[in-house]
Amino acid sequence: MAKKLFVKTYGCQMNVYDSDRMADVLAPHGYESSDTPEGADLVILNTCHIREKATEKVYSELGRLRALKDEAARQGRRMLIGVAGCVAQAEGEEIARRAPVVDLVFGPQTYHRLPELLVRALERDALGGARVVDTDFPAEAKFDHLPEAAGHRGATAFLSVQEGCDKFCTFCVVPYTRGAEFSRPAADVLAEARRLVAGGSAEITLLGQNVNAYHGIGPHGATWGLGRLIRALADIPGLQRLRYTTSHPRDVDDELIAAHREVPALMPYLHLPVQSGSDRLLTAMNRKHTAEFYRRIVDRLRDARPDLALSSDFIVGFPGETDQDFADTLRLVREVGFAQAYTFKYSARPGTPAADMGDAVPEPVKADRLSALQQLIGAQQVAFNKAAIGSVQPVLFERRGARPGQLIGRGPWMQSVHADAPDRLLGHVVPVRIIDGHANSLSGAVVTIAGPEPAPPAIERVTA
Ligand code: 5AD
Ligand code: SF4
Repeated sequence: MAKKLFVKTYGCQMNVYDSDRMADVLAPHGYESSDTPEGADLVILNTCHIREKATEKVYSELGRLRALKDEAARQGRRMLIGVAGCVAQAEGEEIARRAPVVDLVFGPQTYHRLPELLVRALERDALGGARVVDTDFPAEAKFDHLPEAAGHRGATAFLSVQEGCDKFCTFCVVPYTRGAEFSRPAADVLAEARRLVAGGSAEITLLGQNVNAYHGIGPHGATWGLGRLIRALADIPGLQRLRYTTSHPRDVDDELIAAHREVPALMPYLHLPVQSGSDRLLTAMNRKHTAEFYRRIVDRLRDARPDLALSSDFIVGFPGETDQDFADTLRLVREVGFAQAYTFKYSARPGTPAADMGDAVPEPVKADRLSALQQLIGAQQVAFNKAAIGSVQPVLFERRGARPGQLIGRGPWMQSVHADAPDRLLGHVVPVRIIDGHANSLSGAVVTIAGPEPAPPAIERVTA
């Protein structure tokens, strides 16, 4: 009988991709994915360490899982609990000490070894002994040891092209939990993209902690940057849309800007975190650029693609942040104009340089700044959504909406669009007239076009 696997994913899209790949690794070993932890034989929490809150969530979930595991034991079943991802990498054995319910702990670089780790965890469960902990950064690249990714990920799919980060921003744990920058060979990326398209995906989002630092080996031995990779991917028949995330301003090069100008499949929306608008803070954060540099990059990108919409990440309350520093951030937001942005209160992470800087910003000040920034960005977001009213946007329908007969998809600028549409339009890019703009979404009506019905999306699984 098939064993049940439940993976709960926290944090970034890279974790979403990794969770899918864990399911791919375990499928040949008889594990079927399940939507709930109840009755699961294996529960994996794929964790995030970026801020303290994200880490704490994992421990509360482990508390809840203990009851389920006890219940399983009473029924004579075994439930194994694994902690994966960045908390696993950062805390290792400490997790099992704090939460003895955990059977195995493995980092983001070792999930290709999951089947063998599971055998060891099951033995331990039966015979006792040390918990299974694997947080190596193994010399072998994990991508070389994974089975091919399953092709059927839905209308939109993630594809990991790069991992790790060498930037060492002083607030960030990623260089420690994900390790040094590594780029997958272009041929592997292209092969995975072809499988995704054959499996029905019309849109692919290329993922990396610092995706535009991509420097993979090209098919003829030369190094390819992200712009070159995007051009090659755009040639895959049936691939209609490309996106990439997350980028660093310093790694936006001419080739990437040219791709925004010349590759129609590359969507006009870019997540380009700036973190702060104050040069003093950007230096303290080790971002390696000024606010003016960011403005210039944005100008060059918009010159190449005038309808480009931007989103960003901001941290408020970084150690030593003054009213003036924060005013500089607000000014940058006003000048650049964002379609959307993520805002965070600074959270000191053990082991990062900023954690030892002192000069902490008091909590109420952080909270005030966060709400002021959110208000400004929220207003920009609503204005951006309202500006869409009356336009016709190509929308890729991804899933059914809450109301019967309603589908939800995304337009080119990442806005979520709701419209009444038949299920056969799922997986297709369809023109939609935007009727209203809300805080977080748009509503619209499908524009009926005369002509043949669209062909159903390909759903066969290709293994070649
Ligand atoms: N505190 C608050 N926010 C952080 N981020 C990363 N580290 C921290 C931290 N220690 C934010 C940054 C980054 C996003 C993924 O998370 O804005 O771009
Ligand atoms: Fe973290 Fe900075 Fe690397 Fe982004 S660029 S992952 S914020 S160290």
